[in-house]
Amino acid sequence: MIRQERMQVVDQKQIARHIFELTVQGGLTSEMTAPGQFVHVRVADSYEPLLRRPISVAAIDPELQQFTMIYRAEGRGTSLLSQKKPGDTLDVLGPLGNGFPVEQAEKKAYLIGGGIGVPPLYELAKQLNANGIQTVHILGFESKQAVFYEEKFKELGETHIATVDGSHGTQGFVTHILNELPKDFDTYFSCGPTPMLEAVQWAFPEKRGFLSYEQRMGCGIGACFACVCRTTKSETDYIKVCSDGPVFPAGVVIA
Ligand code: FES
Repeated sequence: MIRQERMQVVDQKQIARHIFELTVQGGLTSEMTAPGQFVHVRVADSYEPLLRRPISVAAIDPELQQFTMIYRAEGRGTSLLSQKKPGDTLDVLGPLGNGFPVEQAEKKAYLIGGGIGVPPLYELAKQLNANGIQTVHILGFESKQAVFYEEKFKELGETHIATVDGSHGTQGFVTHILNELPKDFDTYFSCGPTPMLEAVQWAFPEKRGFLSYEQRMGCGIGACFACVCRTTKSETDYIKVCSDGPVFPAGVVIA
């Protein structure tokens, strides 16, 4: 069930260039049902900016009733959010959307992420491993300074990093790594910029895949139509990324 709650900030730190990791505590955590769901955070208590920001959830700790978000501080809103400190409170609406169907993986899964699409894959990797699924992580970033969570992913399975400028890992995009890896997995899960999602689904037309879209959002709850996309079903069939997704089976969304 979606809740609006004033959550306690437990921790906040910068983990890469412009990238922040923020952990909060509160009962809303118990409503989270799947990795890949997101929350809508009011970035400041002042009147402005009033808009909430959609932020993805990187890790959930049901016992401590805490979850961790990772976001890029680039505009005024998220820069204000990056100033929150332990002990502060945060107005959070969530959990929103439908996450990754963890139960669809059989034995081995590829998790493919780009930039700020990487965080939801971490909780996904944890849950898949807990279910006995072997995970291979293929993660793309702009440069070495933008890389985060490499060690954490390595603890869960084989991990490959690509950077656009070649300053860390393989030079290029995640697709360069995918071309070199065996196709011995049954399911792939991907989150990142739309061109990357397109490239990934074209690379594996015969595989079962699930893609999480990073669409521009307004309300986050299916009311404003800011995130509407066409589907492959017909010219008049539309979905809302925020409430019907953000995760869809490969081959459904025309983004
Ligand atoms: Fe408002 Fe999706 S963001 S309908």
